[in-house]
Amino acid sequence: MQVITLLNEKGGVGKTSLSTHVAGGLARKGYKVVLIDCDAQAHATLLYGLPKESGIYDLVVKIAEWRQIIRIPKTSTWTEQANPEGSVWLVPSNIETRGIPSNTGDVFALDKRLTELHNLMKGAIDYVVIDTSPTPSLFHAQIYMATDYFILPAGCDELSYDGIVQSQLHMGQFQPFRVAKGKHEAQLIGIVPTCYRQQVIAQQIFLEKFEGDFPNKVLTPLVERAVWNEASMTKQTLFTYDLKHKATQEVWDVIDYIEEFTQNDQA
Ligand SMILES: Nc1ncnc2c1ncn2[C@@H]1O[C@H](COP(=O)(O)OP(=O)(O)OP(=O)(O)O)[C@@H](O)[C@H]1O
Ligand SMILES: [Mg+2]
Repeated sequence: MQVITLLNEKGGVGKTSLSTHVAGGLARKGYKVVLIDCDAQAHATLLYGLPKESGIYDLVVKIAEWRQIIRIPKTSTWTEQANPEGSVWLVPSNIETRGIPSNTGDVFALDKRLTELHNLMKGAIDYVVIDTSPTPSLFHAQIYMATDYFILPAGCDELSYDGIVQSQLHMGQFQPFRVAKGKHEAQLIGIVPTCYRQQVIAQQIFLEKFEGDFPNKVLTPLVERAVWNEASMTKQTLFTYDLKHKATQEVWDVIDYIEEFTQNDQA
């Protein structure tokens, strides 16, 4: 079971759009995926057509049983197949997620619950994908401790750049605690430029800056396209909304890269 977290302390850069597609895309490839909504906005929950609920709060604060909090979104959100090999399960969120830091002092609370899930499912879960809120909190510390790989979606602009620098810094501060627990350091899979506007010179300059500052870590840019909004309006991923669209091909490139990176790392 590999835990992939989407991070950027800048808001509105496409963390939720990408995390819901990484979950659906890996499921399309046949993997068993659990998507955990760790943001009180609960947008990943909504994008999968499910009601906001206190699933993540109950998981780490009330130590609820996994079977009580897991929800199974309609498969039609991510695949056209009637009996797909892969699956997406979801841990929903709601406003109560904001209360997690003040109600649990255990920085390993989420990590422990994920280890329990791995054991309960006898290793059958391939990936856990975590969507995060832009505002750093002590809950982020729990998320960092549970994270094997992280992805930084980023707009090609100054503030988004600052967001990824801050996210990396904070993640870095927790690496020694992971290592002390016998885990490997969380690895950066890559930066995914989002809402990229090719015609805007400032955006081109920032894309080059990313490529210069993070060599070999900048993945296929997700160009700004209206289809992202259209698909979310229908509570579908791009995979079922318009499989042949350029935007779908771009996000599919990113998912191929994530699969290759994590599977090679495991080998
Ligand atoms: N490539 C894209 N082209 C056009 N619109 C996009 C693209 N990616 C995301 N969006 C839109 O941008 C908005 C913000 O995206 P999203 O909610 O995924 O960001 P976020 O980082 O999760 O935000 P927050 O920090 O508030 O959680 C959404 O309306 C989404 O549909
Ligand atoms: Mg979000």
